[in-house]
Amino acid sequence: MNETRTAVQLDQEAAVRRELEDFYRDGKPPWDCGVTPPELVALVEGPEPLTPGRALELGCGTGTNAVYLARHGWRVAAVDLVERAVLQAREKVLAADAEVTVLCADATRLDEVGLPGPYDLFFDLSCFCGIPPHRRDAYAAGLTERAAPGALLLMFGYGPGAWDDPISGVTADELRDRFAGWDLIDVTPGTNPVPTFWFTLRRSSGAE
Ligand SMILES: C[S@@+](CC[C@H](N)C(=O)[O-])C[C@H]1O[C@@H](n2cnc3c(N)ncnc32)[C@H](O)[C@@H]1O
Repeated sequence: MNETRTAVQLDQEAAVRRELEDFYRDGKPPWDCGVTPPELVALVEGPEPLTPGRALELGCGTGTNAVYLARHGWRVAAVDLVERAVLQAREKVLAADAEVTVLCADATRLDEVGLPGPYDLFFDLSCFCGIPPHRRDAYAAGLTERAAPGALLLMFGYGPGAWDDPISGVTADELRDRFAGWDLIDVTPGTNPVPTFWFTLRRSSGAE
């Protein structure tokens, strides 16, 4: 895709990347709790568990949830923008004797890496909500192109205003607008002290 980005947009992308790299350079980032969230566990092991298939995790960090999915029979690929995160994720995969393809890649530029899919499950724990707005349609398009019929996207996101910066945050309305060909089938507020949400989207049946 031919990209024309303004200087402001390039600055925004560089600033986000720098901030993320700093978190991993400074040690264990605050979000890296090593625990798989119950919302993902419910999908995988709940009363009506999904049939294991192919999963893609966007913004996998150090790989806790990619390993969890692999251990539960999923064929997993996972991407993160930050190399230090990817290296740690690969170590976690090795230590777990799991099989996960972990790539250092931008979730808004999946065409640049060899992850054609199709995927039955996409998992995003707080990645999309931090992506600069001008890259979010490309994220949605990348998932849409790689979605198997009826694929699910389970996404956790911070609401706008949760952080003191102008770009972070996601709303249900934004997801409805950006994810053409998907149905937003569930929105459950998170339990954090700031506004957070668990969103579930399903690739519409009959969508091309
Ligand atoms: C808040 S952290 C959460 C990490 C992981 N999901 C977890 O819960 O431990 C967001 C992650 O998304 C990654 N990320 C942000 N923007 C990204 C992008 N455009 N493509 C891939 N990864 C991205 C960051 O490097 C970071 O590891």
